[in-house]
Amino acid sequence: MIGLGCDHGGLELKNVIIDYLKKNGIEYKDYGTYTSESVDYPKYAKLVANAVASGECDRGILICGTGIGISIAANKVKGIRCALCHDVFSAKATREHNDSNILAMGGRVIGPGPAVEVVKAWLETDFSGDERHLRRIKMIEEE
Ligand code: RB5
Repeated sequence: MIGLGCDHGGLELKNVIIDYLKKNGIEYKDYGTYTSESVDYPKYAKLVANAVASGECDRGILICGTGIGISIAANKVKGIRCALCHDVFSAKATREHNDSNILAMGGRVIGPGPAVEVVKAWLETDFSGDERHLRRIKMIEEE
């Protein structure tokens, strides 16, 4: 189950991602926002981050205007590794190396075609499980 969230700056791109997930039979839960009315991105970041941290969702995708605010907010939740990616190389690398559990993008930064490629790469790439990457992730989690 993929948790989705956005603010007004990410709504259009979130709908593109929803179309992609639907077409590919990938289950998702949409935590809002659902209209173009201006809203505060931390609310949606936390809804999705908490859903992923609790296990309600396996992974999440968050979109705001730049992807920056919403990723900063998501990374405040313990256990969340939210990666802001606007290219396929980073999307694959952050899965392989960081085991990122949330992908963030900016609806005002990337077009729909490239964004779908980023989502596809991120969803289809597994964590490498390499000892050095596990060690580094553990270091991130340490208080
Ligand atoms: C909203 O105008 C905008 O600030 C937000 O979508 C995001 O880009 C923040 O980082």
